[in-house]
Parts: sequence; structure tokens; C-alpha cells
Amino acid sequence: MKQIVSSPVARVAGTVRVPGDKSISHRSVMLGSLASGETRVHGFLPGEDCLATLAAMRSMGIEVQRPAADSLILRGGGLRGLKRPAGDLDMGNSGTAMRLFAGLLAGQSFDTRLIGDESLSRRPMERVAAPLRQMGADITTRNGLPPVSVTGGRRLRGIAYRLPVASAQIKSAILLAGLFAEGDTEVIEPAVSRDHTERMLAAFAQPVRRSANSVSLTPTGGLQATLVNVPGDLSSAAFPVLAALIAGNADVSIDNVGLNPSRTGVLEIFRLMGANIDIEPLDTGSGMEPVGRLRIRASALQGIQVPPALVPLAIDEFPAVFIAAAMAAGETVVSGAEELRHKESDRIRVMADGLRALGIDVEETADGARIRGGTMTGGTIDSHGDHRVAMAFAVAAMRASGPIRILDTDNVATSFPGFVRLACDIGMDVAESNGSPR
Ligand code: S3P
Repeated sequence: MKQIVSSPVARVAGTVRVPGDKSISHRSVMLGSLASGETRVHGFLPGEDCLATLAAMRSMGIEVQRPAADSLILRGGGLRGLKRPAGDLDMGNSGTAMRLFAGLLAGQSFDTRLIGDESLSRRPMERVAAPLRQMGADITTRNGLPPVSVTGGRRLRGIAYRLPVASAQIKSAILLAGLFAEGDTEVIEPAVSRDHTERMLAAFAQPVRRSANSVSLTPTGGLQATLVNVPGDLSSAAFPVLAALIAGNADVSIDNVGLNPSRTGVLEIFRLMGANIDIEPLDTGSGMEPVGRLRIRASALQGIQVPPALVPLAIDEFPAVFIAAAMAAGETVVSGAEELRHKESDRIRVMADGLRALGIDVEETADGARIRGGTMTGGTIDSHGDHRVAMAFAVAAMRASGPIRILDTDNVATSFPGFVRLACDIGMDVAESNGSPR
């Protein structure tokens, strides 16, 4: 099992790019596989989560060329072009892959079973299975958890579904099933979640109607292959952004970052805390997703009440927000974030435990935490196999009074291959080793 040891440093600087967006990379493989014609993907994230999606599509007969680690040519076989896989489809650590595939596979003519690793096997799947059943799918979970078994050959019908929580994964699963359904499919959200599926469906010639809190589609009977330029992942960029904010001295620029407004909550939260971040939109001409450049300087952060409306727009960045809060003057209150308990780990518990182990005063609440900024010591943190928890503490160590050893860090490769190298490139003191088993 890998470990990361990160040590204090005072200055970070440089211009970097982060790997491709994980959410968009998953979707590019899924829609490219269901489309007619050849889909080219540039900037694909070669992280383990997206490679699991790619392997699943290959095992269902999709031909894929990979001219470079981050570029793909997919030869889609049309909506009905997938073939029965020889065995289970292994989603690894990826909740997104499992939930979106559940929707996509509900309308196939063959049976499938979705499995995952230890962490994924503890994550709730009924939230996606229940609406798919309403559409006519035959889908079972093991007491609400993976494996997810999908029986093929069912006729699906469109539904109007009101999501109990803002979740792009559930919304996307229903929309993907809707491609195979009779009639219209509509999803109504309690708050806006990331809209990459909606944008990409439109680019693949499947129009989507949108209003403030709902999205619907009438299946056109097929998707048309297109070119997908995947921007850098803002969720990965959040770590060098955090590093620059908390360093005593910093000037870091990050090029080609996705700036989809349904993802930029973290930048708003950091700015409310007093962050010095310049955002320069870039015109890439591709149209599917907004992209830009960030420039971050060291900032004196203040504690805030994080507006609950920003939570779904920053849902993956709370490990970084918790670290910013620990370095800020005063108290930061996070609420309305119960969903954090259902991510790759229970991120409220795991972050609170980690911060406390390093001397920070944290009170855990049912749907968030109160974090009092203070002086962080060095120490040892268990990431519980959660990639973003591991990276957040690796950055925190910059400002700790001694090195932080982070255990169980193999999963950093699920979303941010090259994290340690990039961290060193901007001046952090981070090393990864093959630690001993727990
Ligand atoms: C994702 C949606 C988010 C996020 C996850 C990726 C997606 O989950 O946490 O990492 O690609 O659709 P929600 O379903 O909570 O929005």
C-alpha cells in the first residue's frame, strides 16, 4: 500500500496543467461508444476510474485506439451496438462509472453485473436503481449496495423523476436510460448539479431541454459521433490552488482548466474566504465546456459560513475546503453537505479525524463541520483509500509544523495520475513510497 510523506515548504510557484476532467472523460467514453461513427477524445484522463469505464466498453465490443495516453479514438456501434460482456464489469473505485453504467445498461438486450472495490462496495446504489426500476428496468442491488445486476431485454418508458438529492450521477443515469426509453424522460433537481451529461448529449446530436431546475429529453433514436476536448479537471486543480493560497509566498498559474459554472463553487468559496485568484476565461472554440486559466497568489484566509447553495457546485472539493478552513483565521462552518458522507470515504468523518489528529479544533455535525483555524502539527493520517483526502493532507503539510505521513494513497491514481510530480514541480516537498501493508 502506497504512502505519501509531505513536508513543510514556504513558497510555491510555476505554471502547470492538471490532467483531464474525470466526469467529462467518463462521459466521452460512454457517449462515444453509443454513437454512430468515430469519436475522438483529446485530453482524456488516464486515471484508473476512467480506465475502468474504457475497459468496460472494450469488453462490450467497442473498438478503441489510444494514440496517446490522453487521446482516444472510439468506434461507436450506435445505441444498440454493445455486446454481452464475457464477465462482470469491474468499476474499480468509481461511483460515477457504476451509477452511469447502471442507466446505460438498463436498456440493453443482455444481462450485466457491475462490481467494484472495497470502497465502492460500501456506496449506496438504490438511489439509482429505484428510478431505473420506475422506468421498467430489472435491476437489483445487494441490500442497496454493489454488486448491481441488470437484466437486459426490458422495455423502458420515460418518467418524470424528482431527485431526492442534487446528484449528477443519478440525473445522468436516468438520462442515459432515457435514450433507450419510449417517450420523454425528465429529471427535476432540488439544486443544480454538474451538467456535463446535458452538454455532451447536445454535442452528440441528442437535444436536451433545460429549465432552472429540470432537464428533459425526447430520444431521437441515435447519437452522432463528435470531437470531445476534455479540459483540465478543476477538482484536481483545487489542490495546487489550495497550495498557493496557504503558502507564505506563492504565484501559481494553472492553464486549460474546466470552468463549467456547475463546478466552480470551490473558487467562489475560496474567494469568500479572501482568496486571491484571477480567472481568465479562454476561448477554445469547441463550445462544449468553458475553459480558462487560473492565477493564484498567497492569501490571508478568513473563516466563513459556507453558503449551502454552493455545496453541490463544490461537492468534490470539500477535503480542500476543510484544509483551507484549518489554515484560516476564525471559524468556518460547513452545512447542507450530508452527501459528503457517501463519497469515496465518509469525507466529513475522515477529514475531521485527520484534522484533529494534527491538532485542529473540529466539531463534526450531521451534515458538515465547524472548523477553527489554528496551528497544524505534523503526524500520520489515514486517508481511508480516498484520493482527495490524501491529496488534501499532502497540501496541508506545507503549512504544518512538521512532515505529514499519509497512509493508503494508491487511489490518488484514480483521479490525478502525476499528482506527486506536479506538486514537486511547483515547489512542494512530497514523496511517495510503497509503504508496508496496514
Ligand atoms: C460526478 C458527480 C458528483 C461527484 C462525482 C462525479 C459525476 O457526484 O461527486 O465525483 O461525474 O457525475 P453527485 O452524484 O453527488 O453529483
